[in-house]
Amino acid sequence: MTKTIRIGIIGSGGIARAHASAYRKLSNVEIVAVADSIEGKAQAFIQQEQLLNAAPFDDHRKLLELELDGVSVCTPNFAHHETSVNALNAGKHVLVEKPMSVTLSQSIEMVDASRRSGKMLTVGFQPRYDPNMSLIKEIVQSGKLGSVYFVETGGGRRRGMPGGTFIRKELAGAGAMADIGCYSLDMALHALGYPRPLTVSAYTSNHFGTNPKYHKEAAHFDVEDFGVAMIRLEGDIVLNYKISWAMHMDSLGATMFLGTDAGLKVTPAGTGPWSGVWDGSVGSMTLYNDIANQHIQSTIPVIEHGLNLFDEKVKDFVAAIQDDRPAPIPGGEILYNQAIIDGVLRSAASKREVTIELP
Ligand SMILES: NC(=O)c1ccc[n+]([C@@H]2O[C@H](COP(=O)([O-])OP(=O)(O)OC[C@H]3O[C@@H](n4cnc5c(N)ncnc54)[C@H](O)[C@@H]3O)[C@@H](O)[C@H]2O)c1
Repeated sequence: MTKTIRIGIIGSGGIARAHASAYRKLSNVEIVAVADSIEGKAQAFIQQEQLLNAAPFDDHRKLLELELDGVSVCTPNFAHHETSVNALNAGKHVLVEKPMSVTLSQSIEMVDASRRSGKMLTVGFQPRYDPNMSLIKEIVQSGKLGSVYFVETGGGRRRGMPGGTFIRKELAGAGAMADIGCYSLDMALHALGYPRPLTVSAYTSNHFGTNPKYHKEAAHFDVEDFGVAMIRLEGDIVLNYKISWAMHMDSLGATMFLGTDAGLKVTPAGTGPWSGVWDGSVGSMTLYNDIANQHIQSTIPVIEHGLNLFDEKVKDFVAAIQDDRPAPIPGGEILYNQAIIDGVLRSAASKREVTIELP
């Protein structure tokens, strides 16, 4: 008989609804508790989401005293570290929302807690469940491109700056990079097999966020709304990365993998003021190579899938618990993603190339 998987949700804001909805669709899951640090919010969430068997808590540590198999960490970025480490130390598997945390040292501690406890730490990059994303990795890993020496990724919104906890450094850690940039980094690094980042030379700015003409919370805006970086990866690969929440431009272009035998261009999906958004949504792809000295350009059509990617990531977390499988999107990998964001911030502040030190 299939075991019932007992789940707790920490942080009951916007994204927690997507988690609750996905868990509710799984017959082998029971959401037994919800915690939110704002008094009464967990209780209201339980009622709105009709999780009538769930217990509400204001303090996530109380929720962790329950017998649970796994928790979804859906707090703002600043609380990912504390809640995830406490959950792992309490013997629960963790699905933490992206970005992994606010600093590299926090992410290292999270990975350590996972190793020590033997519990999985998986990070919520739902675009991984898009079959088009899998196809990018399959093409890059197939060797068809030859040796990949240059990757360009990122993108941005013409206008699309969030507010609230997303624009305060003490709560979010970083701005556009943590919100949407971590997705494009994940896409590129995942396709390459997550090589170690070595150095970063970066520039960031916040000309739009701090201007009341463009943002109504300009007075509180202290993260970057634009970032660009050149990152050296192991294997003599260079990654050019750029991300923008707001700009006077329609798009920052496509994602490209340049290899010695072929090149792959991934066009971002999306139209309108958010056109050119690169937050993990994949448009069509084009493969460039030579055949008989002719320049060949082949279009790879978008795979239509109809999957709800949020549902897929939650389903895979539950299946990994049930089947005693390793983390689907391991914290140990995503550490490199966080290391790059950390390196971008350090390099931009010092106006110098910085080295990335990893355990
Ligand atoms: N995967 C995605 O597509 C996606 C989309 C949106 C947001 N996110 C991520 O999800 C996270 C949450 O975003 P959101 O939009 O739901 O934010 P939100 O502000 O709507 O909700 C966060 C909730 O966490 C609560 N909280 C804060 N600290 C807490 C603590 N220590 N313990 C318990 N609860 C605490 C807050 O009171 C709030 O209710 C962020 O890290 C964000 O980057 C991911």
